Amino acid sequence: GRDTFACSWLDRVQLLEEVVSTQEEAKKLAENGAPEGTSVRAEEQTGGRGRMGRKWHSPRGKGIWISIVLRPELPLSLTPQLTLLAGVAVCTAIREVTGVQAGIKWPNDLLAGGRKICGILLESSLREGGLHYCIAGIGIAVNLTEEDYPQELKSIGTSLLIEGGGIPVDRTVLTEAVLTELEYLYILYSEQGFKPIRELWESMSVTLGRQVCYNTPEGRCEALAVGLDDNGGLLLKDRTGAVMSVLSGEIEMI
Ligand code: BTN
Repeated sequence: GRDTFACSWLDRVQLLEEVVSTQEEAKKLAENGAPEGTSVRAEEQTGGRGRMGRKWHSPRGKGIWISIVLRPELPLSLTPQLTLLAGVAVCTAIREVTGVQAGIKWPNDLLAGGRKICGILLESSLREGGLHYCIAGIGIAVNLTEEDYPQELKSIGTSLLIEGGGIPVDRTVLTEAVLTELEYLYILYSEQGFKPIRELWESMSVTLGRQVCYNTPEGRCEALAVGLDDNGGLLLKDRTGAVMSVLSGEIEMI
């Protein structure tokens, strides 16, 4: 079980001072054959990247900016499940180490007090039409103060320090908890499939049971979030009772 689980990924963390993005550093390692679980963490990212081409604010010494090499044997269509798995791992680690009651907004933003505390970026590299490797990028706003956020992010972002009542969090301890949880769930997933991960995700989700807004080619729609489908997509039920799933993109909780 989890309590006696010895994490082997902990032995393969590289800590760098300043990088453009840990995603690129991890990719280089993966291309050179680095084994699964190899990771790169940086004190500062000068060009941190978020989903949808956005920037990721990564000030020096304030967060956990880390990218992990994964080599899953999966069809490409199932990689969204890994994204959800990573969200569950980080959410569990945050709750355990800090007591902050983070929740998961689909697909994998972690929120606390209604604002974002962590973002996850899963990037896949293909070879011969199949999956070659994945890089799981995790950014956790650990010890940022309100002043560390630029004006335009103040209403969107928070940190474990802010949500935990001003108590700084040891980033090494939290990094170890994240990697341990991630490796544990990854093994569980390879042995038992998506079901246990999906159940954990659903129990930590702040999206299920809420009305959400999303964009379609036909315009903005509103529906109730009711569950996850087998691929990790979000199941939505509209006013007519029709159920559909969205696989990627943005939703807004209303
Ligand atoms: C998002 O919410 O849009 C995803 C943010 C992912 C940020 C992390 S920080 C470590 C890794 N390196 C990057 O450049 N991005 C990811």
